[in-house]
Amino acid sequence: MDGNGRWAVERGLPRLEGHREGVERIRVVLETLRSLGVEHVTIYAFSTENWGRPQDEVEGLMSLFFVAVEEQTRELHERNVRIVHLGKTANLDPELRGAVEDAQRLTAANTGITLNVAFDYGGRDEILQAVRRIIRDGLDPDALDEETFRHYLFTAHSPDPDLIIRTGGEQRISNFLLWQSAYSEYYHTPTLWPDLLPAELEQALEAYRARQRRYGKVAGPGA
Ligand code: IPE
Ligand code: MG
Repeated sequence: MDGNGRWAVERGLPRLEGHREGVERIRVVLETLRSLGVEHVTIYAFSTENWGRPQDEVEGLMSLFFVAVEEQTRELHERNVRIVHLGKTANLDPELRGAVEDAQRLTAANTGITLNVAFDYGGRDEILQAVRRIIRDGLDPDALDEETFRHYLFTAHSPDPDLIIRTGGEQRISNFLLWQSAYSEYYHTPTLWPDLLPAELEQALEAYRARQRRYGKVAGPGA
């Protein structure tokens, strides 16, 4: 969800207003993706590196996230959305951690869209945590394979992403789903996150459908 800050600055507003608008935008994005048949959605809300932002912005993001979880969970639950947090919980305020845990518990059995919320998430941190648990579990190094490894990631319940949409014009991964994105298709757009409209989401999915995914193999019959 990149571009909130610039969206606000363009309007002469404080950056936090951009984040507020960005959170507000999740609703319509989710509804659009659902109507297009998408079953798993991951939103990257706060990275392990975002702690390095000015303290007032970090605090603003934390309270925005808390309010969003408090306000949107019931509505998402009514729409049969399963909410799953991806990331660390150790550094979150206990109140926020509790709200996230409640949201997960409440929606755990839902069968509609799975909404993964990456908050205090970093791909490298996720891989490290997986390795630590694998060592603690005493797995046989020679028996460890990719299928076993993926079950130690935060995303064990979701398939690898087919498509990653990056708003805000940057063309980098920024520590997002490093393991899972090995063969994801990428769509990047200069559109700032709060300006992302359903029409462009449709366009992104259209572009995705036109891609030929070869997974490192060659194209053609029998390939
Ligand atoms: C949202 O956009 C990203 C985060 C929530 C942390 P930015 O805050 O990165 O917006 P820009 O890039 O400054 O416009
Ligand atoms: Mg940014």
